[in-house]
Amino acid sequence: MLTLENNCIVIFGASGDLTQRMLIPALYKLYSHQKLSSSFAILGVSRSTYDDQSFRDKLIKDLASDDNVDHESLDKFCEHLFYQVMDPENKYEYKALKQRIQSIETALKIKSNTLFYLATPPSLYSVIPQNLAAHGLNIEDDGWKRLVIEKPFGYDLESAIALDKSLYQDFTEDQIYRIDHYLGKETVQNMLVLRFANSIFEPLWNSKYIDYIEVTGAEDLGIGSRGGYYDNAGAMRDMIQNHLLQVIAMVAMEPPAVINADSMRDEVVKVLQCLKPLNEDDLKHNLVLGQYTKSHVRDECLLSYREEKGVPEDSRTETYIALKMFIKNWRWDGVPFYVRTAKRMPTRVTEVVINFKKTPHPVFSANPPDNKLIMRIQPDEGTLLSFGLKKPGAGFETEPVAMDFHYSNLKNSELLSAYERLLLDVLKGDATLFSRSDAVSACWEFVQPILDYKKNKFDLYGYAAGTWGPIEAEALFKNGQTWRSPCKNLTDTDYCEL
Ligand code: NDP
Ligand code: BG6
Repeated sequence: MLTLENNCIVIFGASGDLTQRMLIPALYKLYSHQKLSSSFAILGVSRSTYDDQSFRDKLIKDLASDDNVDHESLDKFCEHLFYQVMDPENKYEYKALKQRIQSIETALKIKSNTLFYLATPPSLYSVIPQNLAAHGLNIEDDGWKRLVIEKPFGYDLESAIALDKSLYQDFTEDQIYRIDHYLGKETVQNMLVLRFANSIFEPLWNSKYIDYIEVTGAEDLGIGSRGGYYDNAGAMRDMIQNHLLQVIAMVAMEPPAVINADSMRDEVVKVLQCLKPLNEDDLKHNLVLGQYTKSHVRDECLLSYREEKGVPEDSRTETYIALKMFIKNWRWDGVPFYVRTAKRMPTRVTEVVINFKKTPHPVFSANPPDNKLIMRIQPDEGTLLSFGLKKPGAGFETEPVAMDFHYSNLKNSELLSAYERLLLDVLKGDATLFSRSDAVSACWEFVQPILDYKKNKFDLYGYAAGTWGPIEAEALFKNGQTWRSPCKNLTDTDYCEL
C-alpha cells in the first residue's frame, strides 16, 4: 500500500458549508482510520474572522455531538487544524499565506507537499491559482503542489475552456484535480467491476441485447437555502452536466487496458465524445423540463420552487429534467438512454436500470418476463437482477423473481464516503477518479444545445412537489418502454404550463 507523504492541505472557502459538512468530516474519518500521513496540517483560509481555536471549535461541533466519536482522537485531530484570515481575491495577502504555510511546515516537519482545495464560489477558480502562482506556490521543486477544483467547472462550454486556459498558464494538467463526487461513490466505481470483472454481463452489454437504459437521480429535498446558486444553474448544470453524464460514461465506456488515470480517462472521454448531439427535433421531442409547485405531502406544506429563498417569483429554472439521448458508436447505436433528475420527488433514489430485450420467440407466454439489471447507487446500495422463473404448478406460466444484493450485507468491509475516497486519492496523486479537461469539455459540448435552447421560450411543466414529475416525460418512451418507478405518483394535471 502506498504510504502518503507528509503534506499540508490548504482549504480556500474554509468558513463555508462544503468544508464544514463534507471536507472536515471526511478528513477526520481518514485520520481516525490512520489513513493520513504521519505528519500533516489542514490550513483553512477565508475572510471570516476566526483564530485557530475558534475555527477548530466551529468545525468539530457536529462531529463532537456524534455519540460514536472517539473524543481523544478528535482532540488530536484538532491539533492539525489551523486558520488564516485572508481575502483570496487580494493578491497582496498571499505573501502572508506563504509564510504561514512555511511556518506550519517547519513546526510539523512537513515537506513542501501542498494541496490547495478550492471550496469557494466558482468565480475564484481562476483568481486563486493565479495568485498562488504569483507567489511561487505552484512550483514543485521542493514538493508537489496540487489543486482541487470543485464543481461547477465552468458555466458553459466557453467558460470551461476559458477556465482551463487560465489554469494552464501556471499549473500542469497533472497538478489539477477536477472533483466530481459521484466518481468517488463506491457504487459508481462498482459498475466497472460488475461489467469488466464478470464474464456473465459483458457479452450482453450492447445494442444486440439491451433494449434501453434508464438513469434516475431523484431527490426528495428541495433546493433548501441554495436558491441563489441553483436558480443560475438548474438541474442541467447541477446534476446532468457532471454527475449523471459521468455515471453514463461508467455504464457505456469500453474496458480500459489497465486501471490507471490515463487508461481510464481515455476510455471515459472516448464515450463522452460519442454522445449524439441534440438537434432541434430532440430538443422539441426528447427533452422535458419541469419545476416543482406547492403541495401538501404527509401533512407538510412544501413550498413551490418560486417561493424558495433566493428564487425570483417568475423563475423559469428547471428543477426537473427528463431526456432521451443516444450514444453514436458501435456498441450503443440505437439504444435509448433515458435520463431524469429532479428535486422534490417522492423519494431519494439514484439508480441505473439496464433493460434487456425480450426473448425473440415467446415460448411460454405472449408477454415474456422483464429482464432488468438495477444498479442502485444510493440509498440501499446494491444490485438487483430480475428475471422470470416457472410458476410452480401445472403449465408453464412464468413468474418474475429477483436476485438482490445489498452492500449492507457485506461483512468486514469498510465503505469510504465519496469525499474520503477522493481526498485520499488526491493526496496519493492518483487522478483516476477525477475528470480530465477533455471529458469536462465533452460534457459541456453535449449540454450546450440545451442551455442555448433555454435562452428562448420553452415549455416548462409544473409538477406538484412530492410527485414523480410531469406526465409528459412518459411520452419520451415508445413500444411499451417506461420508467421503472419505485412508486408511481405522477402529477395528475394534464398539462401545466408555467
Ligand atoms: P459557501 O457559500 O457555504 O462557502 C463559500 C466560501 O467561500 C466561504 O467560506 C466564503 O468565506 C469563501 N469566500 C471567499 N471569497 C469569497 C467571495 N469573494 N465571495 C463569497 N465567498 C467567498 O459555499 P459551499 O461551501 O457550499 O460551496 C463551495 C464550493 O463548493 C462552490 O463552488 C460549490 O458549488 C461547491 N460545492 C458545494 C457542495 C456543497 O454540498 N456545499 C457540493 C458540491 C460542490 P468568507 O465569506 O469567510 O470569505
Ligand atoms: C451536488 C448538487 O453536486 O450533488 C446538489 O449541487 C445535489 O444539488 C447533490 O443535491 C447530490 O449529491 P448526492 O451525493 O446527495 O447524490
